[in-house]
Amino acid sequence: MSLFLLFTIFFNGFFSIPAFGSKTMQFELIHRHSVHELSPPKNQFERVQELVHIDSHRVHMISQTVGKRRKDSETNSLGLGLGSSSGSGSAATIPLHSGAYSGTGQYFVQFRVGTPSQKFLLVADTGSDLTWMNCRSNCHNCPRRSITNRRVFQSHRSSSFKTIPCSSGMCQTLPFSLAQCTDPKAPCNYDYRYSDGSSARGIFANETVMVSQANGRKIKLHNVVIGCSSSLQGSSFLAADGVLGLGYSDSSFVVKAKEKFGGKFSYCLVDHLSGKNVSSYLTFGHNSIGNYIGSANMQYTQLALSTMNGGFYPVNVAGISIGGVMLDIPINVWDASGEGGVIIDSGSSLTYLAEPAYNVVMDALKLPLIGSTKQIELNPFEFCFDSINFDESLVPKLVIHFADSARFEPPIKSYVIDVANGMKCLGFISNGWPGVSIIGNIMQQNFMWEFDTVNKLLGFARSSCAKRS
Ligand SMILES: *[C@@H]1O[C@H](CO)[C@@H](O)[C@H](O)[C@H]1NC(C)=O
Ligand SMILES: *[C@@H]1O[C@H](CO)[C@@H](O)[C@H](O)[C@H]1NC(C)=O
Repeated sequence: MSLFLLFTIFFNGFFSIPAFGSKTMQFELIHRHSVHELSPPKNQFERVQELVHIDSHRVHMISQTVGKRRKDSETNSLGLGLGSSSGSGSAATIPLHSGAYSGTGQYFVQFRVGTPSQKFLLVADTGSDLTWMNCRSNCHNCPRRSITNRRVFQSHRSSSFKTIPCSSGMCQTLPFSLAQCTDPKAPCNYDYRYSDGSSARGIFANETVMVSQANGRKIKLHNVVIGCSSSLQGSSFLAADGVLGLGYSDSSFVVKAKEKFGGKFSYCLVDHLSGKNVSSYLTFGHNSIGNYIGSANMQYTQLALSTMNGGFYPVNVAGISIGGVMLDIPINVWDASGEGGVIIDSGSSLTYLAEPAYNVVMDALKLPLIGSTKQIELNPFEFCFDSINFDESLVPKLVIHFADSARFEPPIKSYVIDVANGMKCLGFISNGWPGVSIIGNIMQQNFMWEFDTVNKLLGFARSSCAKRS
C-alpha cells in the first residue's frame, strides 16, 4: 500500500511534472498588427481591408490546390505528390499552395535557425508544408537584409547547414523539387510559381533549429528540413522573412516536431484587435489548456487528414444551426471527397463558405438585423451596419455542428465582426461552388485548438488565451 503510494507520488512527481515543461515546445504567436515594422499603425478599417486583401490571394490558392488535386486523383497521376515536379526539370507552374504559400499570413513566430543561430520572423501557417526563409547560400559579402528590409539567412555562417543532394531520395519527395540533377552532389532545388506572378527559388537543406520549451529552456532540433529561398519575385513576399510550415506532410515542421514532442500542436488566438500586452502561443506537445484562465473542457472532432490530400486540416461538418434551428444546407457542401469540404486554417482571417451554405447562413443571420439596423455598403462584405447603440442580443447564436456531434459555438464577435469604429459586418465571404469552406482565424479566436495528428483529432475549448501567472 505505502509502496504503491510512494510509487504514485514518485511517478507523478518525477515523470508528469518535468514532462510538462520539457516535452513541450512553445512559440509566442505575434499578430501581424502587433509587428510595427511590418505594418505601420493603421486604423481599424485599413487593417480589416488588409486582411481581406491577403485572404483573397490565399483563398484563391487553396481553392486551386484542392481543385487541382481532385483532378490529379481522378486521373490517378500525382495524387498525394503535390510537391513532385513534372519531371521535365521545369518549374511547377501550377499555383499550388503548400510550401509555396507566400508568407502574407497573420500570425508570426520568432524562429532561430543555424549554428550559431540566426533569428527570423516566420508566418505560422497550417496551409504550408515547408518551412523556408529568405536566404543566401554561396555568398560571402551579401547584405544581411534584403532590399525589402527582410532578414536574410546567411547559410555560409552556419556550421550546421547541410544541403540535401539532388540525387537523394529525399529530394524527390520534397515539395516542388526540381528533377534536374547533373552533379549528384549538387543541392536539391525548388522553384515555386504563383498565380499572381510571384515566384520563389532556392535549395533544400537540413538545419539545426533552436526552440524554447515550456519551462523556458532552449533545446536544439537537428536535421530540420528548410528551404533556403534565394530568389523571390513579386509583391506577395513583403510580409515576413519566411514561413513556418505547419501543414500535414512529411516535410512539415509538425512531422519533425513529432519526434521529440509527439504529434500534437495547439494554439490559442487572442482577439486580433486586442492590445500588445496579451499574447497567443503555439505549443507543440501537451496543449497546456490547464495553464489558461477560464478554459472549458475540450471537445474533439475527427481531423479528416486523408480526405483532401496533403497539407490541409479538413474537418467533417454536419451542419450549421442559427438560433437553434438547423439550416437547410445541401450536404455535399461538407463533403471533401466530392466538390466541397471544410478546412480549418490559421492563415485565412475571415470565414469562407461554399456558396450554397453561404446564402443560407447569411439569410438567417441578416433576418433579425435588416429591420433593426442601418445598413452600410462596405466591400467585400455583403452585410454591414451602423453598430452604435447596437444590441448584440439581436444576433442569433451560430453553431457549427461536427459529424461526430462536437459543437463549435463561437462568440458573436467572431462572426459579427468589428470593421471600423461604429461599424460591424457579418464576417462571411462566399467561396463559390464547387468550393471549399474555410474556417478562418477570426472565427477561431478565444478558443484553444489542438491538432492531434497521431490520433487524427481536432480538440477545441473556449479560452481567454490569457495565461495563469
Ligand atoms: C537530412 O535529415 C534527414 C532526417 O530528417 C536524414 O534522413 C537525411 O539523411 C539528412 N540529409 C542530410 C544531407 O543531412
Ligand atoms: C492590456 O492592456 C489594456 C490597456 O492597456 C488593459 O485594459 C488590459 O486589462 C490589459 N490586459 C492584460 C491581460 O493585462
